[in-house]
Amino acid sequence: MERTYLMIKPDGVQRGLIGEIVGRFERKGLKLVGAKLMNVSLERAERHYAEHKGKDFYEMLLKFITAGPVFAMVWEGDQAVGLCRALIGKTNALEAAPGTIRSDFAIHTNFNLIHGSDSQDNAEREIGIFFTEEELVPYDK
Ligand code: CMP
Repeated sequence: MERTYLMIKPDGVQRGLIGEIVGRFERKGLKLVGAKLMNVSLERAERHYAEHKGKDFYEMLLKFITAGPVFAMVWEGDQAVGLCRALIGKTNALEAAPGTIRSDFAIHTNFNLIHGSDSQDNAEREIGIFFTEEELVPYDK
């Protein structure tokens, strides 16, 4: 069983797409084990995007992700990391396959609605940045 970290970014929250996006993962059959609406501090944003430090889009990324509330989530299921990435689509909306979240709703790489962990190691690291273990709800379904 895998866990992954997903975060609807400020553009997704502001456009009223939380329900639409959450519904896609629910209908896929994944299990929501943690969720909260929150503002991201600069310190958290820097930890989360540490691997992008120094890249030309890094400062813009920090500014964007701290600009308004995000909807942070932890989802669980077999191959949750890969399945969620598949539903989200490629980073560049132009390359995202039809039917993916980014293809259906995003037009810009910087404002691409949602983040999804790209590996199990990063998923655990990112979950640790945004959630305490007590905030994750274990249940059988
Ligand atoms: P995300 O999955 O949150 O991870 C890093 C983010 O940086 C990415 O989504 C994009 O929003 C943003 N970004 C901007 N430009 C690029 C780029 N050239 N390559 C990758 N990510 C980029």
